[in-house]
Parts: sequence; structure tokens; C-alpha cells
Amino acid sequence: MSSNSFGKIFTVTTFGESHGPAIGCVIDGCPPGLAIDESEFRNDLDRRATGKSRHTSQRREADDVEILSGVYEGRTTGTPIALLIRNTDQRSKDYGDIVNTFRPGHADYSYWQKYGIRDPRGGGRSSARETTMRVAAAVIAKKWLAERHGVRVRGYLAQLGEIAPQGFDWAAVEQNPFFWPHAAQVPALEKAMDALRKSGDSVGARVNVVADGVPPGWGEPIYGKLDGDLAAALMSINAVKGVEIGDGFAAVAQRGSEHRDEMSPAGFASNHAGGILGGISTGQAVTASIALKPTSSILIPGHSVNLAGEPVEVVTKGRHDPCVGIRATPIAEAMMALVLMDHALRHRAQCGDVGEVSPRLA
Ligand SMILES: Cc1cc2nc3c(=O)[nH]c(=O)nc-3n(C[C@H](O)[C@H](O)[C@H](O)COP(=O)(O)O)c2cc1C
Repeated sequence: MSSNSFGKIFTVTTFGESHGPAIGCVIDGCPPGLAIDESEFRNDLDRRATGKSRHTSQRREADDVEILSGVYEGRTTGTPIALLIRNTDQRSKDYGDIVNTFRPGHADYSYWQKYGIRDPRGGGRSSARETTMRVAAAVIAKKWLAERHGVRVRGYLAQLGEIAPQGFDWAAVEQNPFFWPHAAQVPALEKAMDALRKSGDSVGARVNVVADGVPPGWGEPIYGKLDGDLAAALMSINAVKGVEIGDGFAAVAQRGSEHRDEMSPAGFASNHAGGILGGISTGQAVTASIALKPTSSILIPGHSVNLAGEPVEVVTKGRHDPCVGIRATPIAEAMMALVLMDHALRHRAQCGDVGEVSPRLA
């Protein structure tokens, strides 16, 4: 009802606010026997974390995961897994000015209209701090998907404002703070971000995410389509304004002769569909792309209204990302992994007896 839970079999419920004492999640439906320990959350949480470079918010959270339940002697038991992260770097006074003001581009006004009360500290529940728990839950999903099916979910920044990659190498992505796939452009990105920060403004971004190794058959027709669930999951990330699967909106200008992915005994000749046909995976890479809006909290004054409906000028202080898309890459990967994990288990539940049918194309 209140939509804080996600998934049908691999179910993740998150709780917590940006400036509360802790955030957490409960994962229900995880298969038993998966080896997992607290240190395995470090890498992805660090990839999402703030304060790692001068190009993201300087809020510094340790993001240490505590496993409270569902794991015994290093293995999942099949019972609910509760994960907790204590918030350690809240500076609520940074947000004192906005208690009576609706910041443009934020959820302040819509939350107020819905609930008639709001926690203004750091955006409360609407803060992207909540996505930390999605990334944590997805560490488990990614590990199970990799071990059980050889699935690998990876993302990268595919556009920063007007700047697009001029080359592509997966190896470059983890070597720079932007998740950028072309190392030679990184100095130019740093320069652009420094100039942007100085100007007090922000930019949008595009993040691409790709899952390799997904077997054919995952996803359900009609209301449980893999692409439908993926689109909803990616759209649920803060600041996402657009989602594309495969070629997405480029399909508008394509011909059928170009877009349909022809098949031969050697496999598919192309992947315009993004690895999904009829809502069900084809065995090709599952590809998606998201558009993130520019950060709303900027130093440039903007017009709004206060609780009394009077006109006010808003300048957002506090620590903010000049481009929220930079840190969205691990979050997009997480949402893709959570959807795939859920659909893997759903497929196993209904169609596990079907087994492998031929022909199976690459
Ligand atoms: C990783 C990440 C970090 C974010 N950090 C900020 C931020 O520092 N300042 C800000 O104004 N918005 C930030 N946002 C976006 C807001 O959370 C979001 O715009 C706001 O809650 C309104 O929701 P909506 O844009 O999805 O409609 C961030 C989003 C993501 C994905």
C-alpha cells in the first residue's frame, strides 16, 4: 500500500530517512546457502558514496553494513535478511532554512500536499540516501546472479550534460570518479565539473546499464514484463526523468528492417531490443539507459513559495552533488540486479521444470 517494498519473491523493503539515526532494509525470499559477509558490501557502497571526489557531495558517510538477521555462520538461511547502516554525518542545521519553504525541483511541495507533514532534514525519505539500501540489497542479488547464472550487471556514465563519450572501454569505467568509459576525456570532465561548481549550477546525465549472461526466459507476459518492471525500477531512482530499454526512443526514427534483430544459427545479428522480446529475456545482453535531471539544490537563487503561500527566494545551502547522475551508476546497476534476481526466482518457480529448450541462440 505504502510502496516501500519491491519485488514479488526476492522482496526488498527499505526504511529510514536521510537524517534519522539509521537506514535499513529487510530482504525476504533470498535463497538459502549463499555465502555473504559484511565486508562484501564495501565495494558497491563505496562506489555510491558521497565525499569520494570533489565532484560529488562532501557529505561523508561510513556506510558500514550490519547484518542483523538471516545469515548464520556466513550463509543465508532463507529467513528475512535485515541490513542496517547507521547515519553518521547528518548536519541538519544545513537544512534549517527550508523548513518553511518548498525548494523548487524537490519533493517538498508534493510530500506536503500528500502527507500534510514532512521531515525536511536532507529531504527526509525523498532523499537519495535511501538508495544506499537498494545498493546493499543488490550486493546479495548480484552475487547470487553471478554464482548461479553467470550474470554480470555493469553500468557507466553515458553522458554528462552535453559531453558524450568519444570512446568505450569497460576497463576505464572503474578507474575514474565519473564511471566514464573513455579515460582520455577524464581531465576534460574534471574541468567541466570544476567550472560548473564555480558557477553554482548543475547538469543532468545519462547512465547506461547492461546485464550480460541473462539466460532466455526471464520475465513474464503482460503485467510482469521484464522491461516493464525494469523501467519502473529504474524510474524509481531519485531524479530519473526517462528510461530507455535497448534502442529506446531512437526506435522512433528507425525502420523495421533495421530494428528487428535478425537471427541465424550463429545467433542474433544485433540487439536493438535490449535483450527482451514480449517482456521475456532472449539471452542477449539486457540493456537500459536512464536520464537524470540536473541537481535542484543549487546556489543560484530561484523563486518559490513558503508555507504561508508567500513568494520567497530560495538558495540551497548544504552539501550537494552538482551532477547527481555521477553517483547513479551503482544505483542503476542495483535496480537492474534486483529486478533480474526477482525474475530469476519467479521463472524458477513457474517454469523451472521446462528446462532448456532448443534452439538456444547467443
Ligand atoms: C545519487 C543521487 C544523489 C542526489 N543528491 C542530490 C543532491 O545533492 N541535491 C539535490 O537537489 N538532489 C539530489 N538528488 C535528487 C533528489 O533526490 C530528487 O531530485 C528529489 O528527491 C525529487 O525527486 P525527483 O527528482 O525524483 O522527482 C540526488 C539523486 C541521486 C540519484
